[in-house]
Amino acid sequence: MKEIDPARIPRHIAIIMDGNGRWAQKHSLGRVLGHRKGAESVRATVKTCRRLGVPYLTLYAFSMENWLRPKEEVRALIQLLREYLDGEIQEMMDRDIRLAAIGDLDSLGDPVRTKLQEAIDKTARNQGMVLNLALSYGGRDEIVRAARNLVSDALAGIIKPEEVTKELYRRYLYTTGLPDPDLLIRTGGECRVSNFLLWQMAYTEFYFTDVLWPDFREQHLLEAIADYQQRERRFGMTSDQLCRT
Ligand code: IPE
Ligand code: IPE
Ligand code: MG
Repeated sequence: MKEIDPARIPRHIAIIMDGNGRWAQKHSLGRVLGHRKGAESVRATVKTCRRLGVPYLTLYAFSMENWLRPKEEVRALIQLLREYLDGEIQEMMDRDIRLAAIGDLDSLGDPVRTKLQEAIDKTARNQGMVLNLALSYGGRDEIVRAARNLVSDALAGIIKPEEVTKELYRRYLYTTGLPDPDLLIRTGGECRVSNFLLWQMAYTEFYFTDVLWPDFREQHLLEAIADYQQRERRFGMTSDQLCRT
């Protein structure tokens, strides 16, 4: 097991949970079974993050582009989300986890949208960790939506052009109130961001692993955090400057 420095736990971990389809193929199973198996990794990851004291965990569960997949797969993914919410709500209450969600949530359809909102409301006062699900989420869509709402507020006279700053813009994003991710983990071997948190990842540390999401367990998460803890986050400054502060 990797040694983790408890004083330098990332405040916000974001994960692109990729590789379910390839896992299923490797085991001669249908893609949906890969997604089902992936739900076990979600449970293990949430549990470990909570135990380590990670304050925010964002999981990319369904992208805007994933709507383009075969209808049956999309349907199965939505069904899995429903099962996850039903099955995990008690666990979230027991572990003091607050559920949040980002993305075009209305597009998920009424039954899931309602269930999701109920879970968000029920866990609203929990303080141990925020579990943030990215559902029907697209980074560019989020930025465009923010611009649209901002223009609309400007036309209504609520804001003036000179008041538009990074800080103000941030308030129009889905992630308002969440800190930017410190660490992004992508499983499944691809080295790309696939339209995830484009604005928020300006200074995020990236960690890519070949481990397929359904195989991802505590040891892999600890490896990612240990790797993160070796890095020097300079934010554009020099190493010397950082040592002096
Ligand atoms: C990630 O696994 C899950 C979702 C995108 C919903 P994939 O289904 O993309 O798995 P691969 O990339 O085909 O292996
Ligand atoms: C990214 O994985 C989206 C999620 C994990 C939800 P994809 O499998 O959809 O990404 P691409 O298509 O390989 O870029
Ligand atoms: Mg994939």
